[in-house]
Amino acid sequence: MVEAQTEPVWLFAYGSLIWRPDFDRLAEVPARAMGWSRRFWQGSHDHRGTPEAPGRVVTLVADPDGACDGVAYRLDPLVLAATFTALDHREKNGYERVDIDLELVDGKPLRAITYLAAPGNFAWLGPAPEAQIARQIASSHGPSGSNLDYLIGLGEALRARGWVDNHVFALENEIDPTLSGQRRR
Ligand code: SIN
Repeated sequence: MVEAQTEPVWLFAYGSLIWRPDFDRLAEVPARAMGWSRRFWQGSHDHRGTPEAPGRVVTLVADPDGACDGVAYRLDPLVLAATFTALDHREKNGYERVDIDLELVDGKPLRAITYLAAPGNFAWLGPAPEAQIARQIASSHGPSGSNLDYLIGLGEALRARGWVDNHVFALENEIDPTLSGQRRR
């Protein structure tokens, strides 16, 4: 019962919620999810593609050697129920709310909620060679816009915060080396 809590509720964003947050929030801090990697392995039927021609968007995949940088938002408790109703709708294409353990820059732990698309969900696409993923992203469009804009928006948001994600940057590089090739070094 998330909505009934009185303790601060934190939401971990690692994809579009980093660069296109559209909910009320009281604070935000950089945070890292140890043991997770960000991957363009989730299909998008409703935002960056269609059911017939899905785009690819990010999810978190368990990876013992991985670490995923993102943003933890402290949600506004006065509108918590409405916030989750809207987020559940936005992330309805195979994502579920789950708890996740984060590490803050000072090393302190933070427990948060995140939207995760698990392997086997109805829109799951899974791994593929990065060149193939990049081709799919470059050619996909949906009601929220082009899949390429999603990739570029994410890449720009990561670079703006000084974070490196080799998977995201490699996909940009596959499509157009000028997108991030100069700036990510
Ligand atoms: C997130 O941004 O944290 C969830 C995945 C997405 O909507 O891109």
